[in-house]
Amino acid sequence: MSDRIILAIETSCDETAAAIIRNGHEIISNVVSSQIESQKRFGGVVPEIASRHHVEQITIVIEETLEKANMRPSDLTAIAVTEGPGLVGALLIGINAAKAFAFAHNLPIIPVHHIAGHIYANALVQPMQFPLLALVVSGGHTELVFMKEHGSFEVIGETRDDAAGEAYDKVARVLNMPYPGGPHIDRLAHEANEGVEFPRAWLDDTYDFSFSGLKSAVINYKHNMDQRGEEIIPEQVAKGFQDSVVEVLTAKTVRAAKEFNVKQVIAAGGVSANKGLRTSLEQAFEKEQIPFTVPPLKFCTDNAAMIGAAATYMYDAGVRGDLSMNGIPGKELKSWI
Ligand code: KG4
Ligand code: ZN
Repeated sequence: MSDRIILAIETSCDETAAAIIRNGHEIISNVVSSQIESQKRFGGVVPEIASRHHVEQITIVIEETLEKANMRPSDLTAIAVTEGPGLVGALLIGINAAKAFAFAHNLPIIPVHHIAGHIYANALVQPMQFPLLALVVSGGHTELVFMKEHGSFEVIGETRDDAAGEAYDKVARVLNMPYPGGPHIDRLAHEANEGVEFPRAWLDDTYDFSFSGLKSAVINYKHNMDQRGEEIIPEQVAKGFQDSVVEVLTAKTVRAAKEFNVKQVIAAGGVSANKGLRTSLEQAFEKEQIPFTVPPLKFCTDNAAMIGAAATYMYDAGVRGDLSMNGIPGKELKSWI
């Protein structure tokens, strides 16, 4: 098969990102312009501000990606872009840039699902083995996805309320930590020997998740301590919260991996950067002797390399978008084969 060289664009939330990927795994260049600094002031992502930042950055980021790769548009096989889910205004900036680029250089355009991208970040590390189970944990999603082959997705469990990352960010706010809170809670949790005891939401024997009860338990704990005039110990709250999240995520992922008899388990999404979660999953799957992979930290959080990796498999399967494509904020994860 001849080389497939794909320029990928990702603008679904607060990172303006582009990357050039060869054959689905080789990273030729990868540029991420983060707006975390400007979002910090507001304690979260303000959609209008995110869109403005994308508008300012997108052309610079694409040019830098081509420059770093030392490539011209004529070297490319296709252009890929995140179609959804995400903030509609943010998605549209990437999509319009991709459409203009595809039109100007007569390239096919491939619309990529953001979560498929997170999952395929693992293909940048090593070939995926099927059947496969993916634990997707990000700011907007918490899902267990079964894949019997490339391009086949079956969501076997998902969150009924908050996403794991959302719960991290909300609890961080309670502890007066800046946005995004995940990395701060992770760091604090490792500074405590003992954690406050918080509940675990097992939801019987389903593969679904729930984090809003845990989040409320943390808020109530802080509230009760305040009323009693006692100081909370943030490290112990962080550890108690993280232990609850990690225990439930690990136990359900292990049970699903065994039931579906998978050859590989992967973790994906921003929360898979969590040290506590990575260690817990690594240890659990070492014990079960099921191969487990998680991407390097920079490919766990939003980036375009993962979009380029997924797009290569879509390209090979004949998936093509066209210039009428639009941003789909609530796009569902569907199989492309
Ligand atoms: O995948 P991502 O970059 O964006 C979405 O698609 O949502 O995930 C962002 C989320 C944020 O909620 C952030 O707090 C969380 O990932 N996150 C972490 C860690 N690093 C990022 N959560 C827990 N521990 C971390 N180390
Ligand atoms: Zn994401």
